Amino acid sequence: MDKGKKILVSGVKPTARQHIGNYFGALRQFMELSEQYESYIFIADYHALNFVQNAKELEQNVVDIALDYLAVGLDPKKVTLFKQSDVPEVTELCWIFDTITTMPYLARAHAYKDASTKGKEASVGTFNYPMLMAADILIQDADVVPVGQDQKQHVEYARDTAEKFNRIFSAKGGSAFSGGEIFKLPEPMILTEVAVVPGIDGRKMSKSYGNTIELFASDEEIKNKVMSIVTDSGEGIPKNVYALHKLVRSESELKSLYENKKGKYQELKEALADDLMNFIRPLREKREKLAQNKEAVLEILKSGGARARSRTASKMSAVRHAVGVELY
Ligand code: ADP
Ligand code: TRP
Repeated sequence: MDKGKKILVSGVKPTARQHIGNYFGALRQFMELSEQYESYIFIADYHALNFVQNAKELEQNVVDIALDYLAVGLDPKKVTLFKQSDVPEVTELCWIFDTITTMPYLARAHAYKDASTKGKEASVGTFNYPMLMAADILIQDADVVPVGQDQKQHVEYARDTAEKFNRIFSAKGGSAFSGGEIFKLPEPMILTEVAVVPGIDGRKMSKSYGNTIELFASDEEIKNKVMSIVTDSGEGIPKNVYALHKLVRSESELKSLYENKKGKYQELKEALADDLMNFIRPLREKREKLAQNKEAVLEILKSGGARARSRTASKMSAVRHAVGVELY
């Protein structure tokens, strides 16, 4: 790993399949960023345990997310890809953070507020979600944490927690870290939606609207989805078709195509389906190839986990010393 670079840490929840809105709105930027930093990207399986309580399902989801990231170009030699549970020290650090955090403060966090406004009885894990996330971030000395807008508040919780810990313990602890500060304050880096990718019904593409085109869709699925895109009658240029098309072909090329085929919605959709198939096919084929060798994928996660974990030893020793539990 390149020591001159700043440290990037981010977690992904192993849940639903990726769609092309996720790819163009987040994943692609995320991949570019992770090349510029010393990057640690992990699959947040302990966070997911709040939602997925079925071992087979969780295992499958973790492998699926690893495949997604590898298929879109994450290079495990440059980026440390691992699963959260391979760094069990985060749960220890989470506990220590719990002791300096108040319940009213956590009750204001989104994950818990969302669950409770939906009338659900939230698990203690959901309530505590931001503290585990703070531990993920702070244990690795993150400088930047790229996340979607919805996670910004949680990164701010991590910052607050670092400050609070440093205030309470660092002076007494006399740690080996410069200035006696144990935790670095991380910065959230919000992945702004360069453009909102529309779904086949014209609303924002989102799994919650059921209007997605999956990132690794088969040719058949792509054709069916594209053919069902809602088009507006009017100027002859179907807005939703065009908005998707410009993701995979330059606007200068599209200009003449859409002029020549003005009003011919069927043909324009066929052209979009072809371009999307050409874009998705290599990604899908790479994913299928990787999936045939699950052992190799597990090996990547395992060695990433060992690398990520080995970095936490000195930090945890300083933390234990600072709070007064490290007697020998
Ligand atoms: P969904 O709305 O399908 O649940 P998520 O909330 O899981 O998607 O989004 C994950 C990331 O992908 C976020 O950073 C989000 O900003 C981005 N993203 C999701 N949908 C779109 C879209 N239609 N256009 C652009 N970016 C998107
Ligand atoms: N909470 C994030 C999400 O729901 C996932 C996550 C867990 C994370 N730990 C993190 C993100 C640490 C950034 C840093 O998407």
